Amino acid sequence: MSANRFAFFNGEFIPIEQAQVSVMTAALNYGLGVFEGIRAYWNANDAQLYVFHLREHMERLKRSCAIMFMELPYSVDDLCNLTVELLRREGFREDAYIRPLVFKSDHTIAVRLNNMTDAFALYAVPFGQYIPGSAVRACVSSWRRIEDNIMPSRAKVSGGYVNSALAKTEALLNGYDEAIVLGSDGQVSEASAANLYIVRHGALVTPPITSDIRASGGIVPCGGAWSGADVSRLVHAGVCSAIREKSHAGSLDHRRSAHADREARQSVA
Ligand SMILES: Cc1ncc(COP(=O)(O)O)c(C=O)c1O
Repeated sequence: MSANRFAFFNGEFIPIEQAQVSVMTAALNYGLGVFEGIRAYWNANDAQLYVFHLREHMERLKRSCAIMFMELPYSVDDLCNLTVELLRREGFREDAYIRPLVFKSDHTIAVRLNNMTDAFALYAVPFGQYIPGSAVRACVSSWRRIEDNIMPSRAKVSGGYVNSALAKTEALLNGYDEAIVLGSDGQVSEASAANLYIVRHGALVTPPITSDIRASGGIVPCGGAWSGADVSRLVHAGVCSAIREKSHAGSLDHRRSAHADREARQSVA
């Protein structure tokens, strides 16, 4: 049995078991969906669940919809209110993960985005740490990041996650935790499904937006491209996303990171 009980689907709150789609759904066949992943943190002292950057995520969902010819009958305010109502109904007293999903719901063989029906689903699940432990063992992937002019890499498009899944699977099968994915120009882009950052003058900076990164809240894309050959810079890096939060690089292609070095020195001292 699922730990969550409800979904908002086709305009109403229903039991999660009833939120079903047909095998003929276009989104299932062709990846024609956009979504968000939003964290909520349980604060036992306040007995409250606090949602992390809810509005910013819903604004990005609307931008993804615009790129993918999808129309939502809900404003950002509506989406935030629906989320709060869902969480109220679920009554989680632990951390949770919220998934709004907009998708092409027609049962058709045609591959297109216009003149199609858009459906909206929203559900949430109890969710702790995504990957236990904080230091990530990363490798440089043999897969390249999808370019924005091949598929909108700035939008959170369901079909784009084939790229993420391939990179992540290769990394896992080769004994690593995470993949660092380069762009077709050989410059550093992202982790498999997370932003990469380095700390510069106290601020987190990512590769530039022109490296086909997924722009996300709270992180400032930096000016210069990160060279794939410049591995020494990357071992000072970390990965972050809503789902996996923030983790330091433990190593990159077997080179120990600055963070891991510091921890090793502290454990000897
Ligand atoms: C490809 C990719 N880049 C970056 C991110 C980070 O985005 P966010 O911080 O909004 O989770 C994600 C998150 O899933 C992602 O899939």
